[in-house]
Amino acid sequence: MTDLEAVTEDFETVSATVGDEVEGVVTVTLSRPDARNALNARARSEITDVLAAIEDDEASRVVVLTGDSEGKAFVAGADITEFRDRGPIEQREASKRPRIYERVANLSVPVIARINGHALGGGCELAQACDVRVAADVAKLGQPEINLGIIPGGGGTQRLPRLVGEGQAMRLILSGDLIDAEEAAKIGLVDIVCSLDELDDEVYGLAKSMASKSPTVLEFAKTAVQASSQMDIDDGIEYEAELFSQLFATADKNEGIDAFFEDRDPEWQAK
Ligand code: COA
Repeated sequence: MTDLEAVTEDFETVSATVGDEVEGVVTVTLSRPDARNALNARARSEITDVLAAIEDDEASRVVVLTGDSEGKAFVAGADITEFRDRGPIEQREASKRPRIYERVANLSVPVIARINGHALGGGCELAQACDVRVAADVAKLGQPEINLGIIPGGGGTQRLPRLVGEGQAMRLILSGDLIDAEEAAKIGLVDIVCSLDELDDEVYGLAKSMASKSPTVLEFAKTAVQASSQMDIDDGIEYEAELFSQLFATADKNEGIDAFFEDRDPEWQAK
């Protein structure tokens, strides 16, 4: 058992497995089989702790976030039972950032959502906070909060329009309708769709490709692409030029170029 796996040993709802499929890739699995993997306070706290441990672990290159197949879902949203007796003061407290959505988005390593089943409400928002979304064709996605008399509160009103455009985001958020993974891929809510049997090949194939790169450069690339939805185009291009120039101070830039000319695999130093 690795140190990282030991972190989740006594957890109730979250487990981490390291390098099972690909070296350097951590799989974080949410498991609440009786509640379709819905996010309760415990799950949120355990996800927070495992993400902090991943951030501190130099061997973790890529994260795959998934729902336990026993729960028959990716994540069926926030645990609705926690909402009934909550007033605005408690909810404001619970909404204080950083929450799991911000922690996933701000993790320095890439995070792939392995959408093995329904990704609804907070589950859809969690997927949106990931860097890439790969979904099985059995999955359904949506923001059904409006049916409960609320709106998405985990970033969905902001991230969804950036992914799919304002019209499609309005359609999903105002109707609460669920769409299947094929349609989600068509509108840009998921990036790859495949059969459930092919899901691991797709997810870990992508994770392997990312994990073979310099961790420093992965972090710069993630930061630069995220800036595209945070800055206007001129500022974003200026920021990209700055990050690009900073990489010219790294050993990995020279190593990548030397390896290309010497026709060998690069040996990254992460600096
Ligand atoms: N919070 C708490 N419990 C949930 C839940 C959630 N978000 N989603 C599912 N569950 C529970 C159900 O209450 C049920 O519990 P029970 O067995 O004690 O009755 C169990 O998980 C199984 O759910 P069920 O609805 O019977 O399964 P299904 O296969 O028929 O449907 C879903 C699956 C995901 C489509 C359906 O459960 C659903 O619509 N969930 C709510 C989604 C939602 O509105 N999310 C946004 C929350 S803000």
